[in-house]
This record gives sequence, C-alpha cells and structure tokens, in this order.
Amino acid sequence: MQTMYQTMNDVELAAAIDDLEARVAEVKARELKLDMARGKPSPEQVAISRPMLDLLSADSDLTDGGVDCSNYGCFEGIPSARALAGEFLGVDPSQTLVLGSSSLLIEHDSVAMCWLKGTCGHAPWSEFSAAHDGARVKFLCPAPGYDRHFGITEDLGIENVPVRMTENGPDMDEVERLVAADEGIKGIWCVPKYSNPTGDTYSDETVRRLTSMKTAAPDFRIFWDNAYCVHDLYDEGDELLNVFDAAREAGNEDRVIAFASTSKITFPGAGVGFVAASPVVIKEIAHHLQAGLISADKLNQLRHVRFLPDLDAVRAHMRRHAEFMRPRFECVDAKLHEGLDGTGCATWTHPRGGYFVSFDGPEGSAKRVGALCREMGVTLTPAGATWPYGEDPHDTNIRIAPSYPSVEDLSSALEVLVLAVKLVSAQLALEERA
Ligand SMILES: Cc1ncc(COP(=O)(O)O)c(C=O)c1O
Repeated sequence: MQTMYQTMNDVELAAAIDDLEARVAEVKARELKLDMARGKPSPEQVAISRPMLDLLSADSDLTDGGVDCSNYGCFEGIPSARALAGEFLGVDPSQTLVLGSSSLLIEHDSVAMCWLKGTCGHAPWSEFSAAHDGARVKFLCPAPGYDRHFGITEDLGIENVPVRMTENGPDMDEVERLVAADEGIKGIWCVPKYSNPTGDTYSDETVRRLTSMKTAAPDFRIFWDNAYCVHDLYDEGDELLNVFDAAREAGNEDRVIAFASTSKITFPGAGVGFVAASPVVIKEIAHHLQAGLISADKLNQLRHVRFLPDLDAVRAHMRRHAEFMRPRFECVDAKLHEGLDGTGCATWTHPRGGYFVSFDGPEGSAKRVGALCREMGVTLTPAGATWPYGEDPHDTNIRIAPSYPSVEDLSSALEVLVLAVKLVSAQLALEERA
C-alpha cells in the first residue's frame, strides 16, 4: 500500500515536509518528557492492591490447609495458591508449582533445565550440537514478540528463529514446516492470550495445531506464557482453548510448560509466579528447582490467596484494573485514527486486553520514528526490540505501552508519534525519488 506522501507530486511533497518539520520544531520547543516504553501499571493502578498488605499481621493465622507458612517446607506452594494456579492455567492443582515473584525466572529455569539436564529421558539440549555435526539448538520466536523471552534463549546460545505472528497466533503453516524438518528446533515461545505486543489471542485451531503437530525433535516443548490470561479490558474477553486438554487429546501431554504470575494483578515484581505441566514434567521441574530452593515465600502466597481466594475474586479485581487500562487503550486507538486515517502510513492492532498495542509504519521507518520521537521528548520501546536479536527485518514495528502515563500525557505522546510517523513517511517518499 502507498502512503499519501508517495502519491504527492514533488511540489506537494516538499510543502508537506516543510509543514511537518515546522511542527516538529514547535514540539521540540515544548521540552516534553513523556514515556510510552514501559509495560507497567501506573502508580494509581498498583495502589488498588495495597489493601492486600494489611491482610497479614503479627496476630494472623499463618497456616493454609495445615501448612505452616511461617517456616520452611511445602516447596510446591501452599494448597490455596496451587488451587488458584490450577484455575489460572487450566490444570489440576497437583500439576502446578507456586514459586517466587517472577514467572520469567521460572521460564528461564525451565529452559535451563532442558539445556543442562534434558527432559523426559532425552539428552540435554546442550549436547545436541556435538552429536549433530555442530548443528545448533533453535527456538521458534513468533515476532513481533516479547524481547525478554528471546533474551533467555539467546543467552544460552540457542538460535532464535523468527516466525510471523498473525492475528490468530504464529503462522502455523510455517511453524509446522519448520518443526517437522529440523530436529534442532526444540521449542517455541508463546504468549497465547493478549500476546505481547500484538494483543492478539491464539485461535482454537492454532492451539490444536501446536499441540498435535509432528515435530522432528522428540523433546520439543511449548513455552506457554499465559501472562495476560485474566487481563481483559471488557466484560467479554477473548477465549483461549485449554492447551493441556488439547495436548492430552493429541497424545502430547508432556509438550506444554505453562506459566503465569500475579505481577500485573497485584504488585509487579512482588507477586507470585506459577508453572504448570504434565504430571511427569512438573515432577521433573520440581526436582530441578529443589536443588536450589528450600521453599518460596509462602507468606506472600498466603497474603495473595487471602486477597484473591479464587478466580471470581481475581476477575472482580481485574475489572478494577480494566477501569485504568480501558481509557488508555481507547485513547491510543482514537489518536491513531484521528492522526493517521487515510494516510496509508500505518496499521495497528486493536487489543481487547493485555498491556500493548503493536504499531507498524512504512518499511524502513521504525528506527527513525523512535529517534525522532526521542528528539521530541517521547520515549518508545526501542525499535526492533520485538524481534529476535533486535532485528526487525522490515524495520516497521513499534510497541506502544499505554499503561503507565496518564491519559493526558498519553494523548500528547501519541500526537508526537503521529507527527513523527508522518514526517518519516514523507522523508522516505522523497528519498525514493532521489
Ligand atoms: C509475556 C510476559 N511474560 C512475563 C512477564 C514478566 O512477568 P513476571 O513479572 O512474572 O516475571 C511479562 C512482563 O511484561 C510479559 O509481558
């Protein structure tokens, strides 16, 4: 699709660039300092969980289902928290572990377990290369996706292979083709609901294909990070098929390791993290983690389950979060429509939950838009961050994180983004003619 600037004659284009440059100079003079980079809730939003902090005191009963939460023991997590983890991730509580405050760390440790020790009796992934003429272990990375996932596998020396993310999840034709042909592909990163950053939710067909596809690697694993499983903006949320049911039906129960946390429910970085897997694999993960952990912070788990005893309580709490998030997402959509409709310069997603909007400008624009926004006082997530190794092949994608700024600041930041996209698009149109 052509941008409006590509369709202008030379005189019109030069005038448009002059006008946009003048507007950029005006914005620079305002010395704005706005941040749309951070995927974290605003301070007022976090504050709705403060009452949780009053639920435990020196006089409180510190037991849960007979477990003394004030002492070592119960490595797998307290009974009420495991029941909640089971509800979050769609498994029996016995197939869960409730651990510390970060799901990302559990994800890291789960990949590291496969790398160092292997899984279900298969050789450690770290030995694959030597046994296969130097072929590398690879992971599929739906892109745009979550940079910290890609960072975990990159850090271990695993090769990150991008696959196109669609509105129904990863491009499954491509995924099936790749995993069937290459024994070195050992896993895929998935954020199946309100994906980071597109906000899209995997279709039932995608979930079924992922769990039933033929993989050359017998120890292929789906890392199912359901970080946004309860993060609906509207009463009617996206529905996600139960991945464990689908995997069991396909006879691939051991293929899935699922994660979630309360980071964006209670306190980011101070919530509780959950992991779920088949009975065999969860036992394996527990065994691996127990080498380095006597028991997690059960008092924090207790505080959480007293505040959010079941999924209904979680949903009620999330409706309060949505009151902060909804106007911000609606502001993003309205401002982008207002500024860019009819220009042919951009497309963006329309999530019904989660934390991000994914924005695409013309080819070769994203890095320049990021730099221009920075000059105008607006910080965006670095362009390229949503792709493995920070390399967006077409340099189009920008992750918009609307949660932290006030609606007023967000509105100003989006005006700056729109202006930057227009100027860069016009400059690209001019450069094409040179
Ligand atoms: C998809 C996804 N997974 C995990 C995390 C981090 O979760 P935690 O704080 O539980 O480590 C984030 C944070 O933005 C995320 O977007």
